[in-house]
Amino acid sequence: MAKLIVRGGTPLKGKVRISGAKNSALPIIVAACLAEGESVLENIPRDIDVYTISMILRELGADIWFDEADRLHVIPDGLEKHQASYDLVRRMRASFYVAGLLLARLGKAEVPLPGGCALGSRPVDYHLKGFQALGATINIEHGYVKAEAKELVGTKIYINRSSVGTTMNLMLAAAQAQGTTLLENAAKEPEIVDLAIYLNSMGARIRGAGTDVIRIDGVEGLKGTEYSIISDRIEAGTFMVACGITGGDVVLDNVVPEHLRSTILKCAEAGLEIEEGPNEIRVCANKRPVAVDLETAPYPGFATDMQQPFVAMMAVAEGTSVIRETIFDRFRYVDELRRMGADIKVDRDTAIIRGVEELTGAPVEATDLRAGAALVLAALSAKGETEISGVELVDRGYEHLDEKLRQLGAHVTRIADQEDDDLTKHLTTSFLERC
Ligand code: UD1
Repeated sequence: MAKLIVRGGTPLKGKVRISGAKNSALPIIVAACLAEGESVLENIPRDIDVYTISMILRELGADIWFDEADRLHVIPDGLEKHQASYDLVRRMRASFYVAGLLLARLGKAEVPLPGGCALGSRPVDYHLKGFQALGATINIEHGYVKAEAKELVGTKIYINRSSVGTTMNLMLAAAQAQGTTLLENAAKEPEIVDLAIYLNSMGARIRGAGTDVIRIDGVEGLKGTEYSIISDRIEAGTFMVACGITGGDVVLDNVVPEHLRSTILKCAEAGLEIEEGPNEIRVCANKRPVAVDLETAPYPGFATDMQQPFVAMMAVAEGTSVIRETIFDRFRYVDELRRMGADIKVDRDTAIIRGVEELTGAPVEATDLRAGAALVLAALSAKGETEISGVELVDRGYEHLDEKLRQLGAHVTRIADQEDDDLTKHLTTSFLERC
């Protein structure tokens, strides 16, 4: 496993450019494959999840590559296979978006069930119910979802619980369906709005994205186009907390402050000084953060993906904070924070964190993407050296995190694992040219 060695105690200072949003990039790369002709996508982060989804789509027949200006080209015209490979799909739950794509494009899809992961059980039952409502027959055989539809027909679909993945998958499936689809109780995340704008720029007719009800009038065809995706609000939030936990002064560039409202409010409540410009945020932390209570919620509530980074900051805050996680089973990583001296008790969905004056460096392991980020943040503030293993999980969703932290003055060194290094090299270099 690759490792990061972090020597804590340096306040972060300087300017950092926030990358494009991973959670927009993934569905938008898939959406590009619904169309005819080339799409050129800008602001796509070069993280492992982006390489993985691109690899899945390449295996299905699409042509996808990064050019020298870091623009991702997608030509889907050769996409003719309807079976996605288990080896790639199992790596990432978001690869289930190819089910919506294949149903819409080829009328059939065979996609492995994404299965459980470190965040507990993450079913796809809402996705499947939605496909059925659009007219697909669904069978689950040998761990694969087999879906088929001669024709998808628009209808009214109530999504039981606000679900980002379901809303996106149904937008992909319904964009070219017969008639009108209404998605009720749809998720409202900025990445949903980004996907709708991109689909509309290809000729789709989607209204209401960003509200509870999305109306999709099916169109006959979509045409590839150029598009620049939004920046990553979770990466931006992670850097805000990195600044807060180290007592730093950092400017985040290429951000949409509006997308970060709940994080900004909670960071301000914790005592961080925050100034907003149109595309940037300055964060300044002159004193120890103070304890804040919160609970995670669908957008515009406090993002579950920011819960772990925020808990890391609360671990060194003055006072006791109570943090409730309402979306996923997402507290396993606190054992690792405890190894660094954090005082955290977990009672089912709630963590009670008594802030300590200082964490101390220790060997720890990332258990999932955001948990890994939380450990990096804790390590930045800790006394002494922390060795974080399992860093490839962090690489799934952060573009060059260690490099960016070094630019801000942090002492972070990466020790690559030969095997992982080979995979990263393979993924990185194979996307420098067309297949
Ligand atoms: C997306 C994000 C992830 C974020 C999450 C919540 C991507 C690639 N990932 O994940 O970073 O943490 O939104 O903001 O965009 N559920 C079901 N059945 C389903 C689908 C979901 O029970 O068929 C449940 C989930 O277990 C969870 C809740 O609904 O408790 C919300 O999940 P969802 O919004 O779908 O999360 P993802 O799309 O997987």
